Amino acid sequence: MKDLSYQKLKNSFLRPELQDRKLAYLLEDIKNLYTISRAGLESKVWTEEEVSAYTAFYLPTNARKFDFVLDQLDPSVREELSKCEVIDFGTGPGTYLYAFLNYFGGDHCGHLWGIDKERNMLLQAENIINAFFPQYISKLHLQKEREVPQSTCDRLLIFGNSCNEMNLSQIKEVINFYQPDFLLFLEPGVPTVFDLLMELRPWLIENDFDCDYPCPDMVRPCPVQQRVLAGKEDWCHQVWRGTHEPEIERLGQMAKLDRKSMAFIGHIYRKSGSKPKEISNKNTARFIRYLHETKHSFLWEVCLFHEEQLQIKTFEIPKKSMNKSATKDFKRVCVGQNFSFEVTKELGDGSWRVAVSLEPSP
Ligand SMILES: C[S@@+](CC[C@H](N)C(=O)[O-])C[C@H]1O[C@@H](n2cnc3c(N)ncnc32)[C@H](O)[C@@H]1O
Repeated sequence: MKDLSYQKLKNSFLRPELQDRKLAYLLEDIKNLYTISRAGLESKVWTEEEVSAYTAFYLPTNARKFDFVLDQLDPSVREELSKCEVIDFGTGPGTYLYAFLNYFGGDHCGHLWGIDKERNMLLQAENIINAFFPQYISKLHLQKEREVPQSTCDRLLIFGNSCNEMNLSQIKEVINFYQPDFLLFLEPGVPTVFDLLMELRPWLIENDFDCDYPCPDMVRPCPVQQRVLAGKEDWCHQVWRGTHEPEIERLGQMAKLDRKSMAFIGHIYRKSGSKPKEISNKNTARFIRYLHETKHSFLWEVCLFHEEQLQIKTFEIPKKSMNKSATKDFKRVCVGQNFSFEVTKELGDGSWRVAVSLEPSP
């Protein structure tokens, strides 16, 4: 992500005069609403102050999740996405419209639609795009009403932390309405959202969607869901790790909110039509859980396609060939990252000793 100027962001708030201390108080209340009480969430009316606080902290931090998921895709898929028109459903302050423009920059062929039931969120989204991407204002549609764009571009429909406020039939209805070619979910990394997306999956398959990330295949059973069905508490999610602009870090400290590590659920689907997806035979896997680090190795849980099934395996990654900087890189890997590997020894019980290349590999 390009550097975001916090001052520029602040100048575009609905209430730019708010001090950081006040923003931090508001953020604590917003956090409680989403994570503790949730009562009244459906009928919540966002004030200008709350929208400004949300924008200060969640817009720049959530945008990082978009970058992470896009980085995991095959370059050819990114190329297709870059040409899409975008509908950001539950856009809030325009978070994923901003993230999309920021990621792709340059000339974008499609129009951008931000849909939200909250008037103040839409006003805020307009300010943001005006401040950061004024060249796109003529292609921007911010509105409460749904409307199907009339164009020939492929269409990307994004749900960013909005499914979390909807039920399954509402989500299906929105997808049916827009008939997207691509579908991106960037939602909280919690078991309820995993369960919701797993419940949606058979309907997505019926409607000819295929998964580009995170699953190599979605017809074969998801091994994490199999664990859940066997009574184990588990959910598949990603964890972005990194740092933000110093002003945002400071705001997080004041609000007692840690965004250096963000659990989320990022899925991307495409309408496959009649063409079945080819599953790569390359040795690629996705890091799904950090298990342990010893003096000699890292132990990771990974998800991969093997012997015609999706499987969870334990990878033992020896440190002996790593220099200091490579060891650091391995400590910083985010859950959800794709990578390629070579098996050097099968250790039994679903464990393999492997050599890993951390270059993103789709
Ligand atoms: C938590 S905010 C997320 C904002 C932004 N997408 C992000 O991730 O930063 C959820 C937004 O979804 C909107 N929303 C929830 N349900 C909606 C619905 N059924 N129709 C339109 N907007 C909805 C809310 O008004 C709110 O602005």
